[in-house]
Amino acid sequence: MLAIRLCSFLLILPACLEAARILAVFPFPGPSQYINVVPYLKALASRGHEVTSINAFPQKKPVKNFRDIPILEVFNNYNDIINDLNDPMNIWEENNFINKFFVDITRSVLNNKEVQETLLPPGKDHYDLIIVEALRSDAYYGFAAHFNAPIIGISTFGTDYNIDELVGNVSPLSYIPLVTDGFTDRMTFSERMTNFVDTTIAWLNYRYVHMPEQEKMYAEHFPEASKRVPLSELNRNFSLVLLNQHFSLSFPRPYVPNMIQVGGLHISHKPAPLPKDLEDFIQGAEDQGVIYFSLGSNVQSKDLPADRREVILKTFASLPQRVLWKFEDDQLPGKPPNVFISKWFPQPDILAHPKVKLFITHGGLLSTIESIHHGKPVLGLPFFYDQFLNVRRATQAGFGLGLDHKTMTQQEFRATIERLLKEPRYAETAKQMSDRYRDQPMSPLDTAIWWTEYVLRHKGAYHMRVAGQDLGFFAYHSVDVIGTLLGGALLIIVVTAALLWKIAKLAGLGSSKKKLKEQ
Ligand SMILES: *[C@@H]1O[C@H](CO)[C@@H](O)[C@H](O)[C@H]1NC(C)=O
Repeated sequence: MLAIRLCSFLLILPACLEAARILAVFPFPGPSQYINVVPYLKALASRGHEVTSINAFPQKKPVKNFRDIPILEVFNNYNDIINDLNDPMNIWEENNFINKFFVDITRSVLNNKEVQETLLPPGKDHYDLIIVEALRSDAYYGFAAHFNAPIIGISTFGTDYNIDELVGNVSPLSYIPLVTDGFTDRMTFSERMTNFVDTTIAWLNYRYVHMPEQEKMYAEHFPEASKRVPLSELNRNFSLVLLNQHFSLSFPRPYVPNMIQVGGLHISHKPAPLPKDLEDFIQGAEDQGVIYFSLGSNVQSKDLPADRREVILKTFASLPQRVLWKFEDDQLPGKPPNVFISKWFPQPDILAHPKVKLFITHGGLLSTIESIHHGKPVLGLPFFYDQFLNVRRATQAGFGLGLDHKTMTQQEFRATIERLLKEPRYAETAKQMSDRYRDQPMSPLDTAIWWTEYVLRHKGAYHMRVAGQDLGFFAYHSVDVIGTLLGGALLIIVVTAALLWKIAKLAGLGSSKKKLKEQ
């Protein structure tokens, strides 16, 4: 039979637009958030826009049209915070902890000398567009009012109740889990209960404990703008929110028109050749294949407890495969010959290598997306935040398995690795996920650029904003309508009951009088 292959080639016509001055605010001290967006910011610069970027990881070499405002103050307590995250906390404490962390980051931005000297003085500078990391940092959204410019938010983990509010998106609690709870979109009754309660607590904590702090900072650092535009209006007036998510990476769910999925926007399409020593090591694995092991940029595998490291080391030593281990020291005592250590690996290029068969990962979102992009199964060892959720999703989707790194034994670790390598369904599902993810009309980066310029072309693209953003809580949730209907129904019932009672009484009186007469 003759099979016809249909391929589509889309020609993206460049729409005309004047170069814009763009202010980007991405001060988060963990590297992965900035790794996720920096190719997008640089792509905007290479298209002729002038980009000023407030961030914690300034460029090493100058980039054309791109200026850094480094905020290194954000590192002051970062390592303590990462360690404290391992302490047991109840949900209220956990929210306090996270929100306070973002209050501190926001404060670092607004107290930074260069920000205060070059951006905050009224009339000193001018920007056409503000792009921010939308992460519980409302005070710096004030740049939008200050420069009278539209604002775009990027969320590197997808959306939640807080990001939804920027554009009036809805995330039904019945099937959309809170990022930190680690549930999937198919929740049991008790999971739904937990999800509802935890989301409510998170919302209350942000709204009533930390929002007032943000309000204070906004009024203090943007005195003129804060008189014109209250923060509660500014943070419901985002032109666009870009999400580092995609339904092919997680699960299908609704979005308003100005919330766009650009999951994996940092991935470049052409894998670069690997350094020679690395390529030689990988080739030396022959048919056995290679396992890549990295716990990401926040967790250092050199700091793992000695017994945990021993479990990992002995397991790797017993495998016929070769292993690449992202290890942050020069020496790994007792390193077996089939293990190659390095402080840094070109991760996407390694995952693209056909001899690499398995990724042992902490389950961070970027690592998970890269793994799907390159169609490689994962063994997840999650540590915190959304990592548990990502690993559960990988397990649910069938391209990975998870283990608890704190308790796993050598036998369990080895058996899980072997299962992932030997049972073909894991590699097959990873490949299928990759095919679905790559089948998009435009690459995530092109999509992000196109929508960003769309906002510029249409002066904030205010026409995409849903009317729900202008409704109060009661009207939005139809509480007023339900109240009126219930009240009306109640009134009718009461009036009818009263009338019936009256009639019954009259009739009763009549009949008893009659009875009296008959006697
Ligand atoms: C909301 O955004 C639009 C478009 O950027 C702008 O015209 C309007 O003034 C903004 N309103 C508020 C309250 O910030």
